Amino acid sequence: MTHEVRAVVARKAGAPVSVETVLVPDPGPGEALVRVRACGVCPTDLRYREGGIGDEFPFLLGHEAAGVVESVGEGVTDVSPGDFVVLNRRAVCGSCRACGRGKPWYCFATRNAARPMTLADGTRLSPALGIGAFAEKTLVAAGQCTKVDPAAAPAAAGLLGCGVMAGFGAAVNTGGVGRGDSVAVIGCGGVGMAAVAGSKVAGASRIIAVDVDERKLKLAERFGATDTVDSSRTDAVEAIRALTGGFGADVVVDAVGRPETFRQAFYARDLAGTAVLVGVPAPEPTLDLPLLDVFGRGGALKPSWYGDCLPARDFPALIDLYLQGRFALGDFVTETIALDGVEAAFTRMRHGDVLRSVVIPRRARVCGTSLDNTCAAPKACCV
Ligand SMILES: NC(=O)c1ccc[n+]([C@@H]2O[C@H](COP(=O)([O-])OP(=O)(O)OC[C@H]3O[C@@H](n4cnc5c(N)ncnc54)[C@H](O)[C@@H]3O)[C@@H](O)[C@H]2O)c1
Ligand SMILES: [Zn+2]
Ligand SMILES: [Zn+2]
Repeated sequence: MTHEVRAVVARKAGAPVSVETVLVPDPGPGEALVRVRACGVCPTDLRYREGGIGDEFPFLLGHEAAGVVESVGEGVTDVSPGDFVVLNRRAVCGSCRACGRGKPWYCFATRNAARPMTLADGTRLSPALGIGAFAEKTLVAAGQCTKVDPAAAPAAAGLLGCGVMAGFGAAVNTGGVGRGDSVAVIGCGGVGMAAVAGSKVAGASRIIAVDVDERKLKLAERFGATDTVDSSRTDAVEAIRALTGGFGADVVVDAVGRPETFRQAFYARDLAGTAVLVGVPAPEPTLDLPLLDVFGRGGALKPSWYGDCLPARDFPALIDLYLQGRFALGDFVTETIALDGVEAAFTRMRHGDVLRSVVIPRRARVCGTSLDNTCAAPKACCV
């Protein structure tokens, strides 16, 4: 059977996205069909639509999603119809070089669904990050579904699928932030803010939020920043050193991904400290650093792919922390919007007006009582 759904498609580079009819096949072996409850709008979706991530148009956008498994293909045992899941973009293979060496978070052969989703005329779609969840339903590899507690609000839970997990993991998994550490986070959008929140959960004693937008700095205090630095007015490196006894922070996370912010991260570390690069750089910039400083300052310079997360380990744990009130995952949701609101959400994102806009693909009958697409706290049970 083929499922006819509404979904957001980018047809060509730079053109506005459109809501289209998309055909989603039933799951093949090892695949799962998921009814999408919520999907966050991430800068990566905009990058796809601008042609910055390959030219395999048309793209089916959306990848920070939570939903309910509707059906599964042959051989799927880890998830079943009815399970509330967060979709992940790195379903590990278990047998590549990285998996074989016991480092599956680096897996070099992650899995996606093999059966294609198409436009009504049969044109094959390229799902963003192998997910494509600005859609009423999507087809993924079953390993891309991580079961979590259904008490979590889908709009919040879905954000673990990309930006929030990447930022939290950049601090905690890649940077190894622990009790008593000093941390600085450069760029406090959805990703950097999650690095701030993750550092708080991990017990960091000093958490310095750096941004060029005062609104983000105000918000960062709510997520656990102990100090803020407006780097449009102040030298970030000097300010971070001044706040850490003149030494620099144990871990500095660059959640912007530009040469100037990485240079700040590099020099704002204490000697032998760690700089983590989680912001994704554009293709052109290069980095110029004195090699003697790279050696002399020691420590580690670590890129962070998806926060070095293991979805099966990290998603349920973060959902539990959120449900216990120890991690403010719900505060990342600035607004919920319908499928036809994605283009306007890109504009708000560009202006820095939101941490995350979250698409609720279907008009939600919220908890069986009202038809409302803007429910503040839609639950997994909403249809
Ligand atoms: N590594 C991964 O797996 C992964 C996953 C998701 C997103 N990302 C990347 O992380 C980056 C951040 O994503 P986001 O969702 O937080 O984006 P965002 O647009 O919400 O936030 C970016 C923040 O950086 C701030 N900023 C911009 N220039 C700055 C500067 N020079 N100094 C200090 N702050 C500055 C902005 O004011 C904003 O608050 C993007 O590059 C995104 O592609 C990486
Ligand atoms: Zn692998
Ligand atoms: Zn993303």
